[in-house]
Amino acid sequence: MRKATNYWDYIKVEEITSLQGGLVATDAGLANDEVMFITIHQIDELWLKLALRELVSVRDLFKQERVPEQSLASAVRGLRRMALLFGLIADHFPLMETMTTRDYLAFRDKLSPASGFQSAQLREIEILMGLADEQRIPLGHEGTYMRALKSADGTESAASRRVARRREDLPTLKDAIVAWLHRTPIQGSTPSDADDAEVVRRFVDAYCGAQAREVDEAMKLAVHDALTERDVERLGERYTKEKIGARAFLEASDQPEEERARVSRVRAALVFIESYRELPLLAFPREVIDGIVALEQAFVIFRQRHARMVERVIGRRVGTGGSAGVDYLDQTALRYRIFHDVWATRTLLIRESALPPVEKPEAYTLGVGQ
Ligand code: HEM
Repeated sequence: MRKATNYWDYIKVEEITSLQGGLVATDAGLANDEVMFITIHQIDELWLKLALRELVSVRDLFKQERVPEQSLASAVRGLRRMALLFGLIADHFPLMETMTTRDYLAFRDKLSPASGFQSAQLREIEILMGLADEQRIPLGHEGTYMRALKSADGTESAASRRVARRREDLPTLKDAIVAWLHRTPIQGSTPSDADDAEVVRRFVDAYCGAQAREVDEAMKLAVHDALTERDVERLGERYTKEKIGARAFLEASDQPEEERARVSRVRAALVFIESYRELPLLAFPREVIDGIVALEQAFVIFRQRHARMVERVIGRRVGTGGSAGVDYLDQTALRYRIFHDVWATRTLLIRESALPPVEKPEAYTLGVGQ
């Protein structure tokens, strides 16, 4: 007969509650602030562990040559779970803020030069999501983030090895999603169709025309309320920029020539999925995109909330990891975006009633698949 399971054996309660001593064997002699500081980081690393598992599963799903429709629901669940996990981590920061600057300074020196900057799991998540090395902001004396993950004597550590392995683990979620989006039928046409480029071009043209009419309408309303000639001019410039920006985005004119057709098709697919989400085959892809927005939004909010907590606890001093502290963290919140095109699409979406008509709606019945 199977031995009856105890809660403490399964959850390992004694083991996990004996791990908050930091640099000493037990937490018995430590101040409550320090034990809380260690515990919050540990809990957050556990949430990151779960987020990483979800991320691997979602990426594995999208790296398939053909993603079965029935698996999209679980991808959406995984993305939402990751977003919630980042929300929970951000929710821990107010707890950290119950610690005063002086209380933190009492034990801060023993951390140096350790820092959250050495969180291998966060780096793995960024890498697997698709944050490119060129986007990274230099930390300061530590050099690259890979150098910061090594042991003090420059030898490899468990953290540096783990992140090095993750750098080889391709494709990233971003690349897998882009490949999947690229296969999306646009007006019933797929990349393997002989006239696909022409169909996509016609869709982009029709969409840009509709978007321009919507922007013109919005401009008319705004100009009506303008007080001065200069206001009218300013509004005109802004709305014109929206129209030009939409076409430039959809035609991918910001890209090198050899990339343009592919990027343009991916961006058109994003607009197509968002615009015609009532077509049965597009309903779940649209939820996937929403899940990606939710995930990246939660990630950015986590970075912003962390920076505000840090500003409150240590002000604008240099971080234990040697970075510019809050300034560095604010920069990451601003610049560490991965799914740029998914966000950019939001600026050019228009009302349902203004959309160009769908061609070949029969191509979007369930059972066809991307
Ligand atoms: C009193 C509490 C905290 C302070 C004062 C603090 C401060 C800092 C500072 C100054 C940095 C920039 C790197 C450096 O120079 O050290 C940093 C990075 C980081 N911290 Fe914190 N932190 C605190 C708590 C936390 C917690 C609870 C987490 C849990 C997730 C965390 C996660 C991170 C991560 C992941 C980074 C790297 C960010 C990046 O490079 O994008 N920190 N922290």
